[in-house]
Amino acid sequence: MCLAQVCKSPINYTGNKYRILPQFIKYFPKNANKCVDLFTGGATVAINLISEEIIAIDNNPKVINLLMFLKKQDYSTLIKKIDTLIEKYGLSNSYKYGYSYYRQYVEGNNGLKKYNIEGYNRLKNDYNKLKNKKTDKANLYLYLLMVYAFNNDIRFNSKGEFNLPVGKTDMNKNNREKLKKYIDICNEKKIEFVCKDFKKIDIKDLKGVEFIYADPPYLITDAVYNENAGWNEKEERELLNLLDKLNKKGIKFALSNVLQKKKLNIKNEILYDWLEKNKDKYFINEIEYDYRSASYNKKNRDGLEEEVLITNYKVGE
Ligand SMILES: C[S@@+](CC[C@H](N)C(=O)[O-])C[C@H]1O[C@@H](n2cnc3c(N)ncnc32)[C@H](O)[C@@H]1O
Repeated sequence: MCLAQVCKSPINYTGNKYRILPQFIKYFPKNANKCVDLFTGGATVAINLISEEIIAIDNNPKVINLLMFLKKQDYSTLIKKIDTLIEKYGLSNSYKYGYSYYRQYVEGNNGLKKYNIEGYNRLKNDYNKLKNKKTDKANLYLYLLMVYAFNNDIRFNSKGEFNLPVGKTDMNKNNREKLKKYIDICNEKKIEFVCKDFKKIDIKDLKGVEFIYADPPYLITDAVYNENAGWNEKEERELLNLLDKLNKKGIKFALSNVLQKKKLNIKNEILYDWLEKNKDKYFINEIEYDYRSASYNKKNRDGLEEEVLITNYKVGE
């Protein structure tokens, strides 16, 4: 298994591994026929794995449903539906009419925000009113909301309502290309999306799996999926237990994480202890993070995170 040219997911997911994925080429095993992308998020890693079979797991039902919905679409049919919705809500379509058409509405560096705010809020209200968020209609609305949302992100409040304000961009060439590429990849590769809590994974379910990439929320950083104590010390320990079990079964794993925030002097003690106990079995591979273009928030960047990839195999073996 290796990674060819890195493709972007159509979902701009917080903490996605797009920028550091090229570095994984040298760290991931070369020939793994069945792989799991555990904590798949926007599926950036899953869609870039070259393997006969890929299972992408996450416990976020909205994101997994959206990825499954987009996967089964025919691009030309989908894009027609998207363009129809753009018209219906009076949103900008810089791909169709050109960006200069909207220039009179652009204020400062706010991009298309002013032009889209009213239509976007109507779209958001209509989406939030939908009773069943699993339908194709709900997923289509969610995709479009994300494209026009702040930072092209996905965020829900505790009531399950999409709650991001309008963003600066629209369904431009770049978003269309990412969407098309994703659908093409899903047609070419065998990728299965599974909505599951990692704690419910039974090792017996992993028959034939040769490699697992795990990208959990990081205990010492505060990304959105860490809010409301979604990820805590208990979860961290359970994940490390699962990795120990995988190791005993002879399944290769690679775990992304942050060992410490140097400037703030914060360490992930649980991870350090586990590595110390297993220093003959597990290996720390350093990852260089491009902080200038990071999508992480400023607080994290200032903390100078030590991003690592922990493997239970020596690189190159
Ligand atoms: C760092 S993000 C993964 C980003 C992903 N690798 C990408 O490139 O887009 C961590 C993910 O873990 C998921 N997650 C959090 N707790 C989980 C759990 N208990 N079981 C499964 N997934 C979980 C979150 O929904 C989130 O998508």
